[in-house]
Parts: sequence; C-alpha cells; structure tokens
Amino acid sequence: MRIMIIHGPNLNLLGEREPDVYGNLSLNQINEHLETLADSLNVQLLFFQSNHEGAIIDFMHQHRKDCHGIVINPGALTHYSYALRDAIKAVNLSCVEVHLSNVHSREPFRRISVIRDHCIKQISGLGLQSYLQGLETLVVHLRA
Ligand code: DQA
Repeated sequence: MRIMIIHGPNLNLLGEREPDVYGNLSLNQINEHLETLADSLNVQLLFFQSNHEGAIIDFMHQHRKDCHGIVINPGALTHYSYALRDAIKAVNLSCVEVHLSNVHSREPFRRISVIRDHCIKQISGLGLQSYLQGLETLVVHLRA
C-alpha cells in the first residue's frame, strides 16, 4: 500500500515558523516520524511539500494511479481552495485532512475547511500526533 503525504504552503518552515503555534519539529522530523510509523504498518509513503496550489494538484494527478490514499495538511489552502477540493474528488482516493494547530480555536476563517466533506476525517490540534493519527486512520480505513 502506498500513501501520499502532502504538506501545503509555509509548512517547509516548520520548526522556525511560529513555534508556539506549530511546535518545534521541522518538516523533515515530522516526515521521519511518519516513516517510522509507516514501516510498522507496512505501508510506503510518498512525500511532497509545495507552496503552490497547482504543484500540489499536479502531484496528486501524477500519483493518482500508483497510490491508494492521501494524508494532507493543506495549510491555508484548506480554507479557500476549491481547486484542491475538486482535485481530491477528481483523483478518487481516500483522503485524511490534518492540521498541527487546533483550527477551531483560532481565527474564525480557520474553522472553515472547503475540503472536509471530501475527506474521511479531519484531525486537528494534536501537533505531530495529528499526522500520525491521520496516517493510521487512513490505513485502517483502506484495509477495512
Ligand atoms: C495549519 C493551519 C492553517 O490554518 C494554516 O494556514 C497552516 C497550518 C496547521 O497545520 O495547523 O498553514 O494547516
């Protein structure tokens, strides 16, 4: 089983970006933790980060036939990208939406997710654990 792990805009700066909100782990460290979990679940991961909406959509299109699902932290695209919403529907893969911070306890605009109803679950506010639970949830769903 192969899973895309997609990180959206500004997540390349994790570790230095607002650590009080997003924690101290770098994106590489998060990916390493995901890789360790993936090994124990016996699944393969394909990692991607971009600050560009179109590049994320291109990546999803490119790998739609060789992956079984998607864990995505779309960053701010979550809140307004209908193109990303359409892409999740278009590739027809199970998707879990994850956020490091609690998007429900911050500015009101962050409570809106335009992709949520195309995802099997939204996990938010647990830092690294949001990603790990996201991967586990997706794998359990795909194996069911
Ligand atoms: C985020 C929350 C978003 O509102 C924000 O724009 C991000 C990161 C999170 O992981 O908490 O870039 O998705």
